[in-house]
Amino acid sequence: MKSLLRKLHLIPDERALKEERRAEKAARNQVRPNARLPYADHMANLLAKNDPGTAMSLAVGGDYELMGEALRERLVRFGLQPNDYLIDVGCGSGRLAFALARSPWRDSLRYLGIDIVPEMLAFAAQKCARPGWRFELVAEPKIPETDGVAQMVCFFSVFTHLLEEESFLYLEEARRVLQPGGRIVASYLDIAEPSHWEIFEANVRSARLRQEKPMDIFLSEDFFAVWAKKLDLEILEARAPDCGQRTCILQKR
Ligand SMILES: C[S@@+](CC[C@H](N)C(=O)[O-])C[C@H]1O[C@@H](n2cnc3c(N)ncnc32)[C@H](O)[C@@H]1O
Repeated sequence: MKSLLRKLHLIPDERALKEERRAEKAARNQVRPNARLPYADHMANLLAKNDPGTAMSLAVGGDYELMGEALRERLVRFGLQPNDYLIDVGCGSGRLAFALARSPWRDSLRYLGIDIVPEMLAFAAQKCARPGWRFELVAEPKIPETDGVAQMVCFFSVFTHLLEEESFLYLEEARRVLQPGGRIVASYLDIAEPSHWEIFEANVRSARLRQEKPMDIFLSEDFFAVWAKKLDLEILEARAPDCGQRTCILQKR
């Protein structure tokens, strides 16, 4: 009788239920290597919990105005000139662009910012509002520009969120769009740097608790040494101090 009722789906099949529960538990316990919260989801989470200005600042690491100014100063120190064409990869909500748009170079500098999150680009474009400055959405590691047109390409806190292969592809792209002598400024988390180790440890704690967060990739001078060699770029400085990260300055020959 019981099996007839089971067949007619009038009472639940205990074995099937047990199997279902076992599968659910296994899925929960499954270790997912390289699991990461996509940046667009990170942005959406921040927008759900904060006012737009705060969310847009937190999404790029906070201190929107202060840090933007510090990044602008770094670029000048690393060789940016008033009439240059700067390409800002992973420009986010425009922290650097906003500082540049308020600087005395606002009318002479040419600027392209690219990112993968439309909301951040829209915020950046509206905040900076400079004629001729472009903020463009990208879906792959490509820079929407022709060859040899730019004097500088910067990646602030971007390689941190990319797989090493993607960073390499972007470096290749940066070399393509730069004119000879043009520079790449790339900040990175350095696994050998004690203050960065604290970030790594915090990430270990998150991983243990299976908390979702954007991926942090840690690099080292060695990565840049190999990449520079493969791409025929010259390293001008490998470990320049930066606002919380290390910076590698590379030059196209
Ligand atoms: C920590 S934020 C830094 C933003 C900005 N560079 C700054 O310092 O204010 C990292 C940025 O990288 C962007 N990003 C992540 N993956 C990317 C990719 N594949 N191509 C371009 N940008 C990317 C994110 O959307 C985010 O805006």
